[in-house]
Amino acid sequence: NSLGTPLALFFGLLLAGCAGDKSILDPAGQAARDVAMIWWVMLGFGTVVLVLVTAFWLYTFKRSEVVRTPAEERKIARRWIIGGGIMLPVASITALLAFGVPTGQRLLPLPLAEPPEVIEVIGHQWWWEVRYPGAEGGEVVTSNQLIMPAGEPVDFHVTGADVIHAFWVPRLGGKIDMIPGRVNKIRLEADEPAVFGAQCAEFCGAQHAQMQLYVEAVGRDEYDAWLAARQTEALSSLAANDQQHEPAREAFMTHCASCHRVAGLSSEEEGPDLSDLGSRTSLGAGIMAMEEGAVTHWLQHHQRLKPGNKMPPHGDIETATLESLGAWLETLTP
Ligand code: CUA
Repeated sequence: NSLGTPLALFFGLLLAGCAGDKSILDPAGQAARDVAMIWWVMLGFGTVVLVLVTAFWLYTFKRSEVVRTPAEERKIARRWIIGGGIMLPVASITALLAFGVPTGQRLLPLPLAEPPEVIEVIGHQWWWEVRYPGAEGGEVVTSNQLIMPAGEPVDFHVTGADVIHAFWVPRLGGKIDMIPGRVNKIRLEADEPAVFGAQCAEFCGAQHAQMQLYVEAVGRDEYDAWLAARQTEALSSLAANDQQHEPAREAFMTHCASCHRVAGLSSEEEGPDLSDLGSRTSLGAGIMAMEEGAVTHWLQHHQRLKPGNKMPPHGDIETATLESLGAWLETLTP
């Protein structure tokens, strides 16, 4: 019938919120399970309160046959105020608190017998800088991709470079603010290797919604191998690959090196690190898939794809140069 379609749409959309790579209702780690449990308990509580309040509201329409003296009326009113207005809220809020405080406690990065892996995440307008200070052989830096070991706790130390952002991997746990000048810490753990969606969760300007990130949890061995392949030394030989890309490297030094780091060529970190760009799964902080020709497309149309981003338009650079730059950057795959 005529109501069927909108109803199906409404409930379809509601249910769509229960799955997907950014759903808090599809937890993939203990912290996220705790958060989801709080969500369900609060939904249950909220539903009971809604039903009760609605029932009382409907009850007020019922005309009373009983005639009471003002003293009796006051006594009944007082009973309702003390019971429904004070005792009930205090009891339910205390119960929620008793449930929520231990959960919040578990999320704290308290000292462990074996110190967990530390990954630093720095929010920028509108991209992510990711640093691995504990990597053997020296710190590893990447941008817009986060690889973490699965099956063990990982401490994320987060901060902001310009304005306040927030780091949020819904399937792994709660969000945490990235505040310039301050380091906030959150401990997350992924049960199994998988790819999770992440999102900036604090409004940070025009492209806040397009500040996305894929978080990939991998086994310990794969994680160590991934880190080793991103040591400055390993990446430097990558950047110096075959002669055919020499013009692209020159163009990079002219147009890009004042903001972007490519290990072995430049060390500026104003914009995203591009040393291993070819190995990423997405471009522009999660807005488009990495595939052949994607980097060139991004270089040509980035201000249309992500208006306001801090990279200047490239109208003054020849198409052939942009194409050779894009092709070269795509080869940077450890
Ligand atoms: Cu960064 Cu919102």
